[in-house]
Parts: sequence; C-alpha cells; structure tokens
Amino acid sequence: MISEDALVTAALAVRKHAVAPYSHFLVGSALETDSGEVFTGCNVENATYGLTVCAERIAIFKALSEGHRKFARIAVAADTDTLTPPCGACRQIIWEFCGDVPVVLVNLQDKRERFQMKELFPRAFDGSFLGGR
Ligand code: THU
Repeated sequence: MISEDALVTAALAVRKHAVAPYSHFLVGSALETDSGEVFTGCNVENATYGLTVCAERIAIFKALSEGHRKFARIAVAADTDTLTPPCGACRQIIWEFCGDVPVVLVNLQDKRERFQMKELFPRAFDGSFLGGR
C-alpha cells in the first residue's frame, strides 16, 4: 500500500498531460493496484467529442492491459473548488473492475475528499445480475 499523498501527487502530475483542447478541463487519475503499483491516466479529447476518454478509464485500461486485476484505490484530480467526481460512465467502469474501492478527490489547492465507490454508485448493475437466466 502506498501513501495517499503519493497517489494524489501522481494524479496531479498526470493531469498536466491532459489532451483537452475542446473543454480545457484537465483531469488526472491515479489507480493503485493491490500490490502498490500506480497506473495513471489523463483525459484525451476528440473533435467528435463523444470519443473523448476520461482520465479514470485510461488509468484503469492501462492497468488492465498490463495484466493487473485487483485494485486498492483510485484518485481523481481536477481544478475545481467543488471536487470533481468520476462521471457516470467511469463509475460503471470503476465498479466493474475495482469494486467498492476508496475514491480520493483532490484539487490544485490540495483540498481532498474521500468516498467509497458504493456511496458514489449505489445499486449498481453488474455481472451479478447476468447469471442464471
Ligand atoms: N473528465 C474526466 O476525465 N474525468 C472526470 O471525472 C470528469 C470529466 C473529462 C472528460 C472531458 O475531457 C472533460 O473532462 C470535460 O468533461
């Protein structure tokens, strides 16, 4: 397990790589694996808007594609006074691959809030509904 400071620092650092020429809204995310490795992601936008991929999903897909399957925590960094939470699509993806992990939100003033995924994504639809039919 790494420190929250280390995870938050990684999320703030990768935010600077955001490719956000349309929204100018820079987001960084850092995902901690169960073995204490960190995978980061920033948002990557596209002129067709809808093909934009959020920071959280990039971090998760990077980690999955490197073979990691168990995750301990995720951090999200953005420059907002009211801390930016994961969007709905990312909540579904975080739930699918990380389950009820702690989510740390942070801004550039180092204001932080912590949630469990279950709080952010109650009554989730997931693979548990797909058995036996
Ligand atoms: N965005 C993220 O990367 N993560 C979030 O949690 C919220 C939204 C991005 C998507 C888009 O590039 C920009 O922020 C504005 O919606």
